[in-house]
Amino acid sequence: MKTQIEHDMLGQSAEFEGVQRTAKIMAATDVTVLIQGESGTGKELMAKYIHAQSKRNSASIVTINCAALPEALAESELFGHIKGAFTGATSDQCGRIQSAHNGTLFLDEVGELPLSIQAKLLRFLEEGECQTIGQTKTEKVNVRVIAATNRDLYKEVKKGNFREDLFYRLNVVPLDLPSLRDRQSDITYLINHLSAQLAAKHRLDVPRYNMQTIEHCQRYAWPGNIRELKNFCERTVILLSGKTITVDNLPLEMKADQKTKTSVPYTLPEGGVVLEKLEAQLINQAMDKSHGNQSKAARLLGLTRSALLYRMKKHAI
Ligand SMILES: Nc1ncnc2c1ncn2[C@@H]1O[C@H](COP(=O)(O)OP(=O)(O)OP(=O)(O)O)[C@@H](O)[C@H]1O
Ligand SMILES: [Mg+2]
Repeated sequence: MKTQIEHDMLGQSAEFEGVQRTAKIMAATDVTVLIQGESGTGKELMAKYIHAQSKRNSASIVTINCAALPEALAESELFGHIKGAFTGATSDQCGRIQSAHNGTLFLDEVGELPLSIQAKLLRFLEEGECQTIGQTKTEKVNVRVIAATNRDLYKEVKKGNFREDLFYRLNVVPLDLPSLRDRQSDITYLINHLSAQLAAKHRLDVPRYNMQTIEHCQRYAWPGNIRELKNFCERTVILLSGKTITVDNLPLEMKADQKTKTSVPYTLPEGGVVLEKLEAQLINQAMDKSHGNQSKAARLLGLTRSALLYRMKKHAI
C-alpha cells in the first residue's frame, strides 16, 4: 500500500521516475544526500519522502531553514545551550541537531548558511558529535543528513561563499530535481491530479481544460515550477469550479509568455523561402541548442513535445 507522501508526490515522466528510483535506493541507506533544483521543484517534499521511506521513519525529520538562521543565534539554535552560557541564556535549550537524534536532519537552503556556522556544522558532520554551548563535554548524535539548495553550490564554492570541504561532505549523492519545463510530459498529468485533489479539498467541482489551454500550459515555462502549477490549479478550482477553462481564463503572466515568443520579428526575404526546409533547419537548430533534449527543443519552438516528434518524423530528423 502507498504511504500518504507517495500519494502526494506526483509524476510519471521518465525524468521524474528516474529521480524517484534513485531516491528510493538512497532511502534504504544512511548516505548523505544533496538535493538540488530550482525553486518550487519539490526539494522539501523529496527530503520528507526519503525520510518516510527510510528505516528512521519512526523518529522525526527535523528541518533547519538555513536561510532564516541569524548568524548570532545560529550556533545556539543548532547545538543548544545551557542556562547561563551567555547573557540571555535563562534556561537550557536543546539544539535542533540533538532533537533529530535517530532521525533525519534536513538542512534546507544550505547555501545560505553563514561561513562561520559552516565550519561548526562541518565539524559535527565529520565527528558525529555535538557540543552544547556552555558545556565542556561533547555528545554523540546519530542523524542522517539531507541538504537542499536552489543555488549551484559548486559555483558558490568557486566564489568563496561556501566551504569546499563542506560541499564535498554534503555532496555524497547529488539528487537533481528536474524543472517542470524539463518534465513537460508531466504537465497534463499534474494538472489533472492536482485539480482533482484540490477540488476534493475545497468540496468543489473539477474544472475542465480545453485542448488549446492544455497545450498552452505545456508550452509555458513555469518559472515557479510545481508550486506555481499547484497555485494555478487551486486558483482555477476556486474561481472557475466546474467550468470549461479556455486560454482567455489563463493569468496574464501565462498569456504574456506566449506573446513574447510569437512576436519575434521575422522578415520574409525578397526571394522567399522554402518553408519545409526552413522548418527542418529550425528543428535541427533547436535540437542542437538543447543538446538533444526534445522537451527543451519543443519549448524553443513553441510546440508540444508530441508536435515536435511528429514534425521530426516528417522531416526524417
Ligand atoms: N512531485 C510533486 N507532486 C505534487 N506536488 C508537488 C510535487 N513536488 C512538489 N510539490 C508541491 O509543490 C510545492 C513546492 O514544493 P517544495 O516546497 O517541496 O519545493 P522546494 O523545491 O523546496 O521549493 P523552494 O526552493 O521554493 O523552497 C509544495 O506545495 C509541494 O507539495
Ligand atoms: Mg524548499
